[in-house]
Amino acid sequence: MIDLLLDWVSLLVRWTHVIAGIAWIGSSFYFIALDAGLAPNARLDPRVKGEAWQVHGGGFYNIQKFSVAPEFMPEHLTWFKWEAYGTWIFGFTLLVLTYYLNPSVYLIDTSVMNIEPADAVPAAAASLVIGWFAYDLLCKSWFGRETGRLAVAGFILFLAAAYGYTHVFSGRGAFIQVGALVGTIMAANVLVVIIPGQRKTVASLLKGEAPDPIHGQVAKQRSVHNNYLTLPVVFTMLSNHYGFTYSSPKWSWLILACIFIASFLVRHWFNTMHAGKKPDWRLWPAAAVPVMCAIALGILGQPSVPVADAGAAPVRFAEVQQIVDQRCHVCHAAKPKFPGFAEPPKGVVFDTPAQIKKLAPQIMAQAVKTHTMPLGNVTEITDAERSALGSWIVAGSKLN
Ligand code: HEC
Repeated sequence: MIDLLLDWVSLLVRWTHVIAGIAWIGSSFYFIALDAGLAPNARLDPRVKGEAWQVHGGGFYNIQKFSVAPEFMPEHLTWFKWEAYGTWIFGFTLLVLTYYLNPSVYLIDTSVMNIEPADAVPAAAASLVIGWFAYDLLCKSWFGRETGRLAVAGFILFLAAAYGYTHVFSGRGAFIQVGALVGTIMAANVLVVIIPGQRKTVASLLKGEAPDPIHGQVAKQRSVHNNYLTLPVVFTMLSNHYGFTYSSPKWSWLILACIFIASFLVRHWFNTMHAGKKPDWRLWPAAAVPVMCAIALGILGQPSVPVADAGAAPVRFAEVQQIVDQRCHVCHAAKPKFPGFAEPPKGVVFDTPAQIKKLAPQIMAQAVKTHTMPLGNVTEITDAERSALGSWIVAGSKLN
């Protein structure tokens, strides 16, 4: 009963998180594209940097950007911040509900590092704060004065985080931590840098003073960072439902690196296109290269277990059933015994021989070809047992 209620809470939190995220990323796409497409017009107020005409919803919009600010404080001013805060608040709640409350299943893999749950959760949470300070420091340092330099330094910082996470936590836990770190940096950019800067500009306007243009420049820099981080952050969230992305223990951090590079190139194509420049079509094949590298690393990096040929001495079903009972059935039963599971995950149930036979291809994909299952290897399946499952499946999954 409690488990089922928690599942509902988790679903509602996830729903809200995704909706807030759509609103946030949508406004990021919109404003960066709008900004890039602004055209100067000499007839307008000299404070106007540029204007754009847009048609939507049955009417025409004429938008002007005042850079630094208009002369007077406008009567109605819309702020854009709650989509960012909402995404982070509900995302962090989901992180706690799924990962930090079930660390031994989702966050820890003892074959990566034998870390206690009581150490893993604070370390994971603290790393989000430390990561933000490291990034913020980088932006304010000498690196931050030039975009290319900052991009390279920021990417190295990200690589270090991905490498560190994948060498401390389970593959799945590491990927969600990278996503949570990037999401935290993006939300903190809004909370700590962009909005306070805009508040200072507004305060100057209210006092009748000329606002300092530095606030606008810094806010613009951080909002461009956020824009380039939107695609990879969504990838890290989705990757958690695709075991083959994170379950290659050696190369998973490089897979993430490849995806980040591809995402930046794609985002850059859109941003140059929206700026009215001739889009550089070479960016698409250039982005395809790291995606293909990620696929290759994902395939080559999977830990392989030997599987007997179809003609070899067959593995008996009795042995397979014993393995499944011992290593999988705690979670994958009509009524799972594993704490925290109200229902069999993804509806995968191994109660009867017929169910095991029917799910043989999925067992092959999740427990033999990749080591995604058992999650975090909580039930400590051995390579020999994985081999036995694979050999039985290759020989035709016979129930005798
Ligand atoms: C600690 C609990 C636990 C154990 C033990 C476990 N699983 Fe799972 N399994 C899960 C969870 C949770 C999911 C859903 C993962 C997700 O949301 O992507 C899952 C998903 C699956 C899926 C569906 C994957 C998909 O994406 O469709 C298969 C197949 C599977 N497990 C097979 C196994 C096999 C085979 C074993 C034993 C070798 C096993 N599991 C052991 C928790 C467990």
